[in-house]
Amino acid sequence: MSNSREAELIHMFKGIPFTIRSSPELLKSLDTFDAREDDVLLVSYPKSGTHWLAGVITKLYSAQVTLTSPIEFGDISKLEELNKLSSKRIIPTHLDYNMLPPNFKNKKCKMIYISRNPKDTAVSMYHYYRDNPNLPTIDTWTDFFDLFLKGDVVCGSWFDHFLSWEEHENDQNILFLFYEDMKKDLPKVVKEITLFLGLNVNDNDIQGICKKSSFSEMKSDTEKENSDPSHTVCALTSNRKLIFRKGAVGDWKNHFTPKQNRRFEEIFNEKMKLSKM
Ligand code: A3P
Repeated sequence: MSNSREAELIHMFKGIPFTIRSSPELLKSLDTFDAREDDVLLVSYPKSGTHWLAGVITKLYSAQVTLTSPIEFGDISKLEELNKLSSKRIIPTHLDYNMLPPNFKNKKCKMIYISRNPKDTAVSMYHYYRDNPNLPTIDTWTDFFDLFLKGDVVCGSWFDHFLSWEEHENDQNILFLFYEDMKKDLPKVVKEITLFLGLNVNDNDIQGICKKSSFSEMKSDTEKENSDPSHTVCALTSNRKLIFRKGAVGDWKNHFTPKQNRRFEEIFNEKMKLSKM
């Protein structure tokens, strides 16, 4: 990776790499952000299925809701923009728990954390980096693998991110979901989401929503609306084709060498020794 290019695109805030699309002024001012009791946060480490979850959740409401871009993306005017929204806000974020604006915690806003096998997350992120001009250049999978394990990628270490949220898994206002469970039985997970959000959606409608939220449907919808960047949950690209890549469980097996797998497992076991995952 070229250091000068990385310097142009990345800056550090509280020890975590952010792209320049998250201005330092905005990040600094998050502490004073005014949350509303009915805000719903969609929390994830990048490439964990945020768009999928957002696609499902926005279809569950009969009243108007606004899916915003992630709270940490943009410049200082972002907060004012969010303040002006009159409808209920569904706000994605890749922030770790410690960086989350305290108001969301104090007001006990509902938060849904989606997580994914970090090996698949790493592979997904590698492709995203490779094809996205807003991120530093990556030469090889091997290079990216090392950066991912060091946490030297946007949003920092997967392990730190997951652990910061897992500490709060018993908080009543936080629901933990796994990408792999959504792949296995989406209607079951969607039912769980409706109960958590207190929404009354019948089983027939849940089936319909799941159908519309399949990988192929979402990918083809995206191709139709490709020119509309305001539809993007990930403000790092308006090219939605970068987001709907493969949508599979276990793609890591096509990338990891046996040696990389052993190293990953060692680091995983060490970092996650206190985790229930
Ligand atoms: P892959 O790169 O492995 O295909 P995020 O939305 O957090 O950026 O995550 C993107 C990942 O979620 C991509 O993974 C993408 O293909 C996958 N994804 C998006 N929509 C999906 C869907 N409806 N079903 C399954 N996977 C989906």
